[in-house]
Amino acid sequence: MKPTYLLPILPLIAASPAPTSHPSSNHKPNPNAAPGLGALAQRAGLLYFGTAIDNVVLNNTRYTSLAFNRSEFNQVTASNGQKWVHIEPQRNVFNYTLGDQIVDPSKKAGQMRRCHTFLWHNQLPDWLVTGNWTKQELLGILENHIRNEASYYWGDCYAWDVVNEAFNDNGTLRSTIWLDTIGPSYIEHAFRFARRYTSPGTKLYYNDYGIERVNNKSLATQTLVKDFLRRKVPIDGVGLQAHFTVGRSPSYADLRGAQQLFTALGLETALTELDVRLALPGNATAEAEQARIYADATRACVDEEKCVGVTVWDFWDPVSWVPETFPGQGDATLYRQNFERKPAYFAVADVLRAAARNGTRGRTGW
Ligand code: G3I
Repeated sequence: MKPTYLLPILPLIAASPAPTSHPSSNHKPNPNAAPGLGALAQRAGLLYFGTAIDNVVLNNTRYTSLAFNRSEFNQVTASNGQKWVHIEPQRNVFNYTLGDQIVDPSKKAGQMRRCHTFLWHNQLPDWLVTGNWTKQELLGILENHIRNEASYYWGDCYAWDVVNEAFNDNGTLRSTIWLDTIGPSYIEHAFRFARRYTSPGTKLYYNDYGIERVNNKSLATQTLVKDFLRRKVPIDGVGLQAHFTVGRSPSYADLRGAQQLFTALGLETALTELDVRLALPGNATAEAEQARIYADATRACVDEEKCVGVTVWDFWDPVSWVPETFPGQGDATLYRQNFERKPAYFAVADVLRAAARNGTRGRTGW
């Protein structure tokens, strides 16, 4: 089947003038104005600029008019809808409702999808975490899950996050039901199942946070990739989640160096969950710094030839995961509660426009 993400992009490229850079917060957004970040990213030579989308706000038409606008975001990821707890809530009972609520409109809108995620230690159903499985039983459960979900979304996904967050910060493997029951080989089993059951050409990713610098965790990930390549375990890409914080985010050079751990081995990379949180209440200084961090991250992808695109982990503050997880922090996305675009939005757009104008995609030095 022809993958649906290969939709014509020409109408976007021929669209009306670019929004001008606008440092202040009182810019009135017009969701229908083109080109947005997705269109600008394609002009810059990226495959996409995308966003995560959560089911809990799909009744907000202001939100959906941006989320499913392929000029603004030409790629989407379901924040939650394709995770195990929702897809297989009972053993061997599959429910694709929440995934479809995002996949279906994104297909209509002509957007690509990064699908997320076959195997994680969070958001697992009770039946799975409370079962006292043998290694063989759990491997069977894993294969059955991947076979069903991959077959259902056959041809729908540019990429799948096959394994999510397997490492601790010190580079050891995280203790999870998967490691503790199956052993370290669970990771390669997941990738082999993913290759067997996804449509040909689907990019298979390892996805993690805290690997945006050269450190114990990113080096451990590189060791895993090297081992996979040597033993012909299928893997195509590494997703650097890029959940950043104003005041202690990785630099542009950090991001280039971290990506090259993987691109030097022939893999592609992507920034898969970019957001930049700040201490609340925010102020103009913090927002300016946030804009710089968003811009540097985008530039670190544009300048890396094998970085295919950037996905923000939602674009609208009220639906960001940050305030619930980090009390006192927030405002991490590109759009304010009232849907005004922040300085970070315009900083990202400027990076993409400059790359398109100057032809700097894939620049090697930094
Ligand atoms: O399901 C209930 C829903 O019924 C209810 O209406 C709603 C009210 O707030 O809560 C819903 O569940 C929440 C769900 O997000 C949907 O918004 C959960 O309580 C909440 O825990 C869950 O958080 C998600 C989190 O993963 C879980 O660990 C975030 O939305 C999601 O953005 C986040 O995403 C992860 C990536 O998958 C992996 N990388 C890190 C990233 C951030 O944690």
